[in-house]
Amino acid sequence: MASIGELERRHVLRSWSIQRDNTYEEIVGGEGCWFWNREGKKYLDFSSQLINTNIGHQHPKVVKAIQEQAAKLCYIAPSYASEPRAKLAQKIAQHTPGDLNKVLFTLGGAESNDNAIKIARLYSGRFKILARYRSYHGATYGAISLTGDPRRPPVEPGIPGVVHVFEPYCYRCSFGKSYPGCGLECAEHVREVMLYEDPKSIAAFILEPVTGTNGVFVPPPEYLPRIREICDEFGVLLIADEVMTGWGRTGKWFGVDNWDVVPDIMTMAKGITQGYVPLGAVVVNDKIAQHFEDNMLWCGLTYSGHTLACAAGVATVEVYEEEKLIENSARMGEVLKNRLQELKEKHPSVGDVRSIGLFSAVELVKDRETKEPLAPWNGPDPGIMGEINKFMREKGVYIYIRWNYLFIAPPTSIKEKELNFGMDVVDEALKLADQIL
Ligand SMILES: Cc1ncc(COP(=O)(O)O)c(C=O)c1O
Repeated sequence: MASIGELERRHVLRSWSIQRDNTYEEIVGGEGCWFWNREGKKYLDFSSQLINTNIGHQHPKVVKAIQEQAAKLCYIAPSYASEPRAKLAQKIAQHTPGDLNKVLFTLGGAESNDNAIKIARLYSGRFKILARYRSYHGATYGAISLTGDPRRPPVEPGIPGVVHVFEPYCYRCSFGKSYPGCGLECAEHVREVMLYEDPKSIAAFILEPVTGTNGVFVPPPEYLPRIREICDEFGVLLIADEVMTGWGRTGKWFGVDNWDVVPDIMTMAKGITQGYVPLGAVVVNDKIAQHFEDNMLWCGLTYSGHTLACAAGVATVEVYEEEKLIENSARMGEVLKNRLQELKEKHPSVGDVRSIGLFSAVELVKDRETKEPLAPWNGPDPGIMGEINKFMREKGVYIYIRWNYLFIAPPTSIKEKELNFGMDVVDEALKLADQIL
């Protein structure tokens, strides 16, 4: 009989990969911050899978809520009211900032961003959307057109009307400046681009409050408030893509809360059910909600507000509340920040460390002076990143690695002992990188 790995090899197309290069390790269980394979080897989940299992694996309260809802009613069409959807929408309105009070449910991050830009276009009557180069917003055609990273060009042409701008990447500033004293050129350049593009044609600017898979760029404190001002100056809607930064990841309920900025539209997915059942959401402010009181909302999905997914969502949010996981993320985030700083001081291969809450990246370089990346941006791994990955897996730590970045983003429920165990393994693994300098 074929093994599970062999069956996958034969019949499953795996995302973002050249199929021939794939490896097939069968995972059969998990609990809290840990998961394990068929042979019983356990891994610390140091990146919350794809930065989404925010409260950890198999939380009994969420599993029970799914089981109970499955026994009652798995699905009902979006045109009916249902308790899980109503309650989850209320909880989202309660935890999102300002007057973000009304929710369109989707199935994930990409769909949320696609629907957010449709809503922005319908509401404003304008069609252009500004987005940033080093960004990821999802893989559907709208979302990948917003995306600036290398996942977009191979599938172009995308949707028309998207204009890209630079981001606040202070370690490699696109304008050759250093913060402070840079005049926040990364924000002022957005204003300049808006002027060239004709502000009256721009519906929205979409951004990740803290850039995620492109390297965890925590913006300078003035950046988001200034972007809010610029958008207001021209009547451009601000869309915060909180798919990765939402639900405690940055030590606050949402990324924007770190700077007290309220977007007009917020998108989310991942941490809302942390992947137990797929779910996403677009949350709009009162003004936008009011517009659709009298105008058609040209958006819809068979699974909008899926009953089972919303039941998982309600239980997940209750876990964040009851177990004070947002507070834990902020507290453990401080421990993580100190450990990252130690890595930077100790390892010459570490060019930069960036973190906010339990969201962090270690950026590896060949040379701290030239900042030449240890593995090229969007290039093949010269081998070293694979070696680091292999070493960490052998030691029982799973970590998400891309180009020359290590992403450390464990569940918000992580304990200090587990965090230190993972960081000790990262510390050891970085010796491999130091050796090749
Ligand atoms: C910021 C951001 N937006 C959108 C997405 C897309 O979400 P999904 O894969 O659920 O479509 C991701 C996925 O990683 C993301 O990080």
